[in-house]
Amino acid sequence: MSIVIAVDGTAASGKGTLAKKLAGHFGFAHLDSGALYRLSAFSVLEAKGDPKNEADALRGAQTIDFNLAGDPRIRTDIVGQAASFVAAIPAVREALFDFQKNFLDHPPGGAGAVMDGRDIGTVICPTATAKLFVDAKPEVRARRRWAELKAMGIRRGEEDLLRELNARDAADRSRPVSPLIQAEDAALLDTSDLGIDAAFAAALALVSAKIERALKDRHRS
Ligand code: C5P
Repeated sequence: MSIVIAVDGTAASGKGTLAKKLAGHFGFAHLDSGALYRLSAFSVLEAKGDPKNEADALRGAQTIDFNLAGDPRIRTDIVGQAASFVAAIPAVREALFDFQKNFLDHPPGGAGAVMDGRDIGTVICPTATAKLFVDAKPEVRARRRWAELKAMGIRRGEEDLLRELNARDAADRSRPVSPLIQAEDAALLDTSDLGIDAAFAAALALVSAKIERALKDRHRS
């Protein structure tokens, strides 16, 4: 079994940055599962489909263009909102399940994997070696998202962003399929008062004993 760090959490909590940094630290592969839902949603929007419509959403998930994974157009809040709509459709989650599972079973590079999202520790990999649930106060997350968008040349009001983040989290938490929820065995990390370096140090402190032990066990066997 691969060594896996599952990083779940709310929108703009910093989970993606932390997951990337943890992967770099341990030499593990990283997958941002949110990008899969964003790419599906982007595909629906490009085809002028309705992200709430099951057939349109499923077609979107089946026609993901992975070349767009680094495209800033999938990072907008319009796509984030549409991603939340397609992500609530069970057929879409099913269509994306094998890709995620396969990534964890055979992480590129072989050593291990860090995956961030909403349901990694609960549904995609309940047996993950270590699990984090990352959160921050909504106002702090809205400010971070505002700064991120500004850096991308997109000007948005913080109040609007706060409303959208709260609405998206509420939808993600209340959907019947794979809701956003902290796994029982996940360690909670609140990044409200932490800069990137301090948040990373805290994340490392929460997972490193489990990961080091798993790495040692692997060397022994
Ligand atoms: O993390 P990010 O904001 O990019 O995710 C966009 C949307 O994709 C989330 O609001 C959520 O609805 C959905 N998502 C999900 N499960 C995941 C990752 C993302 O439902 N594992």
